[in-house]
Amino acid sequence: MTLDTDATVGPDERDMAAPALTIRDVGIGFRGVRALDAVSFSIPRGGTSAVIGPNGAGKTTLFNCISGIYRHEGEIELAGRPMSGVLAQARAIAGIARTFQTPALLPDLNVFENVLLGAHGGMRAGMWSAALRIGRASREERAVRLEAWDLMGPLALQPLALAPVSSLAHADRRRVEVARALLSRPSLLLLDEPAAGLSADEADELLEVIADFGADTDMTSLLVEHDVGLVMRVARFVAVLDAGRLLAYGDPTTVSADPRVIAAYLGADAPSDGELLP
Ligand SMILES: Nc1ncnc2c1ncn2[C@@H]1O[C@H](COP(=O)(O)OP(=O)(O)OP(=O)(O)O)[C@@H](O)[C@H]1O
Ligand SMILES: [Mg+2]
Repeated sequence: MTLDTDATVGPDERDMAAPALTIRDVGIGFRGVRALDAVSFSIPRGGTSAVIGPNGAGKTTLFNCISGIYRHEGEIELAGRPMSGVLAQARAIAGIARTFQTPALLPDLNVFENVLLGAHGGMRAGMWSAALRIGRASREERAVRLEAWDLMGPLALQPLALAPVSSLAHADRRRVEVARALLSRPSLLLLDEPAAGLSADEADELLEVIADFGADTDMTSLLVEHDVGLVMRVARFVAVLDAGRLLAYGDPTTVSADPRVIAAYLGADAPSDGELLP
């Protein structure tokens, strides 16, 4: 188990000298509703950080802004590089990968083929043909297939390699999506509720594989998660959104004791001096 469980590790100045991701005054509205409003924070390079918040807080919208799906106000920097004007595909190539709140897989392809589609940060024509075994595989394609196969090992996907993803259980689909994202060797992995629908053990195992991969490859993970206990265990740094605004940010201990955070989660039942953790 290599999850970072040291809750005292926060975004100190050393961590923030070269943040993996900087969100600066990011805002977006949909038909007059401010889904995000002047949100600013940075996450340190390495390990897992998290974005939490009640339903509709703007978490997925923020991921859509980071990955270039939505145009937004403000600036997003990937390791200091401004992403304004960089299209989603180019952001993927620059190192941003993501998984979706509902796993987004191609149901008619098998597990191995779906994983291969993550190669090189995007679904490039060459990788499509490799996935679909059109023509002879080049040396590069063979290397990618080997890499995909190796990645599938710790995610327990090798025995399922030839199964169509439509036949898979939810937890297995989730792992396929993660393997596909990891195959692009991202510098920043965005995980939108990866533990949803998984047992506590399955969620821990999945996050452990991601943490191990991140430690080996210098990847930073940003997690959106409703399970606050899980977040407080694994995250170095937590940003709390509420109704599109940044409510709090900091290390898990500070954030979980913040009365505004407790109130946002527990409403009128919030104890005035209580902690968020049970
Ligand atoms: N494409 C869109 N069109 C219109 N409204 C949108 C769109 N995307 C998001 N919204 C609105 O923005 C707000 C934030 O939604 P978002 O999906 O980001 O919340 P969330 O924090 O991910 O919630 P959940 O925990 O339920 O997944 C909501 O009011 C939502 O209805
Ligand atoms: Mg969401």
